[in-house]
Amino acid sequence: MFASRQIFGSIQRRAFSASASNASKVVVLGAGGGIGQPLSLLLKLNPRVSELALFDIRGAPGVAADVGHINTKSNVKGYEPSKGEDQIKECLKGADIVLIPAGVPRKPGMTRDDLFNTNASIVRDLAKAAAENCPDANILIISNPVNSTVPITAEVFKKAGVYNPKRLFGVTTLDVVRASRFISQYKNTDPANESIVVVGGHSGETIVPLLSQSGYNLDGQALADYIKRVQFGGDEVVQAKGGAGSATLSMAMAGARFTESLLKAAQGQKGVIEPTFVDSPLYKESHGVTYFASNVELGPNGVEKIHPVGKITDHEQGLLDTCLKQLKGNIEKGEAFANQNV
Ligand code: NAD
Ligand code: LMR
Repeated sequence: MFASRQIFGSIQRRAFSASASNASKVVVLGAGGGIGQPLSLLLKLNPRVSELALFDIRGAPGVAADVGHINTKSNVKGYEPSKGEDQIKECLKGADIVLIPAGVPRKPGMTRDDLFNTNASIVRDLAKAAAENCPDANILIISNPVNSTVPITAEVFKKAGVYNPKRLFGVTTLDVVRASRFISQYKNTDPANESIVVVGGHSGETIVPLLSQSGYNLDGQALADYIKRVQFGGDEVVQAKGGAGSATLSMAMAGARFTESLLKAAQGQKGVIEPTFVDSPLYKESHGVTYFASNVELGPNGVEKIHPVGKITDHEQGLLDTCLKQLKGNIEKGEAFANQNV
């Protein structure tokens, strides 16, 4: 009798926690910045978010007060280090999802790798704080160079003994958003209905759009122009902003979309697939490439299934070969930094 009551109680608790899992605490580290502000706005509009915690070295309480007036249910709080050492701890405590757009953006003439010296240590320190205060949260890395900052974060979590490869994501959604938008401009279709697979990493030639998989065909120069535009879409924005930073608004949309997908999957929806840069077996043995972006099915435990690249054309295979060579160097650079500096 006692045993059956115990079992019943535990089932009840589980049932409660299953519905309580709809309550999601989402954290933005770097919330005062160009991406952080519109991203916080979009997250405040998402009914799946119950608590929004915003941190930045400056400005997060102001952003929190501002979006906090929006008439959706979630509670918003801003944190900044000048208010005390515990701020980051409090901010991260109980987090389900931590988005990291903290760091410097590019100026014209720079590559994403040129950001490494500044952003590597920013991401390392924030990853350390996450590993200490919310080791089970999903960590979404936006700060560039993503090809290196994701491996840095993994090494920090490994050193803290809490690494779970299913919970670490490099956000590459913007590449897919661009690939879909740009093809719609060639084909005169509704971009909302387009979904172009993009694999590899997140910088220049490591970004590999697989147009053939969506049944599209572009010829000669049109194909070359399309691929270049997807691979260097970030540069287009950097140049247009003329020194005032890189993509912020489209990135906020992409980050909010990825978060929504993760929340839907965590809350039980099946078949949620997003491309993302994760600890991946796909090219580990063949090329020594330990992280790779491909379509990933998301679930309550984060990564549910990593989809292989699938059938591609010879031309796409050539792009992939170039990608894998560069990616390996980017990943090793991140790991070497972490090994010396964590
Ligand atoms: P930004 O300079 O406008 O904002 C960055 C914010 O980070 C600032 O508010 C700054 O105060 C904050 N910050 C710096 N160090 C911090 C720390 N230690 N703790 C907390 N906050 C800190 O830059 P942005 O335009 O928002 O871009 C941010 C990063 O995102 C850049 O590295 C950029 O290259 C990258 N990015 C990535 C993608 C992608 O697709 N993954 C797209 C666009 C931009
Ligand atoms: C992008 O793709 O827009 C970002 O990675 C920012 C950049 O530096 O291009």
